[in-house]
Amino acid sequence: MRESGRDKTVLPDADALTPSPEDAAALEARLGSDRYRLRMRLEAEREAEFHAILSTKFTWLKVHLLRPTERRILKLTGFWNLGRRGYLDVRVVENEIVVGERLPQEFDGFRIAHLTDLHIDMDDALLPVLCQRLERTNYDICVMTGDYRNLTVGPIEKTVAMMDKICEAVRKPLYLVTGNHDFIAQVPPLEKSGKGRFLLNECAAIRKDGCADAIWICGIDDPVIFKTDDIARAVSGCGEGDVKVMLSHSPRVYAEAETAGVDLLLAGHTHGGQVCLPGGRAILSNDAAPRAYQKGAWRYGRLHGYTSCGCGASGLPIRINCPPEIVIHVLRRG
Ligand SMILES: [Fe+2]
Repeated sequence: MRESGRDKTVLPDADALTPSPEDAAALEARLGSDRYRLRMRLEAEREAEFHAILSTKFTWLKVHLLRPTERRILKLTGFWNLGRRGYLDVRVVENEIVVGERLPQEFDGFRIAHLTDLHIDMDDALLPVLCQRLERTNYDICVMTGDYRNLTVGPIEKTVAMMDKICEAVRKPLYLVTGNHDFIAQVPPLEKSGKGRFLLNECAAIRKDGCADAIWICGIDDPVIFKTDDIARAVSGCGEGDVKVMLSHSPRVYAEAETAGVDLLLAGHTHGGQVCLPGGRAILSNDAAPRAYQKGAWRYGRLHGYTSCGCGASGLPIRINCPPEIVIHVLRRG
């Protein structure tokens, strides 16, 4: 880490944000060359923009002026304590999905734990809560659909260290995709720990002991800011006619996923609104998908979908009328 002489902002070590040559070659091969290069260019542009006090996205002003002001206003008006209680009130909820008879018999009742939008480095209090919920919950595999870092720029070391602890609390196979807050340099250290595997426009077969049939977990890279998702590439390795579960940071790819024959799309990004009206109606929306696909379970043609409210929060560690959740998706034949 180093300090900028201009404004004393703590700048990330440039090396930490750039994968080593060996890691870069492997990531490029997995993600696809065009998309990898696009991602690296956009990451560099975002970093440069962040450190300019005045820029078109006003990121520096948002982080250094707007957020502290919002925090003070919430404390003065009494909403801070309410919002923070909501932020740490992580619920474990079940969502049953009738996939149909294409689901192999052995996978009837298969349980997928789904976490998303942890923004884990924003507030140290969330990590033990999530670890405790994971330890007390029963599931067969775990998936995470992006946004592990709080900011969209800046240091990744704290995020990686805290995510390592979360991944350690997952006692079953773990698959992850990146979100719009994540840089690709977060991938190698988490994978090298052996605790989880990112799906960078890739897929993985899930098999059960003694069963020849498989279901597939496909994952795409961020479709929100980097737009480096490639659904065709992600499903290309799946078995013909097998059940496919796709991990995407955002639900906005619903139509393309349905066309590609995906059975279930698991997404996040919207936080369910995070600060909602009584009854849970979101005040603001941050996603291009229609509102019907921005929260909870939904259908589009043959595609089942679920957009999770997420486990963490963005901007400030508060949630009102929108509890954070770990979702257990239970697959059923009928
Ligand atoms: Fe996001």
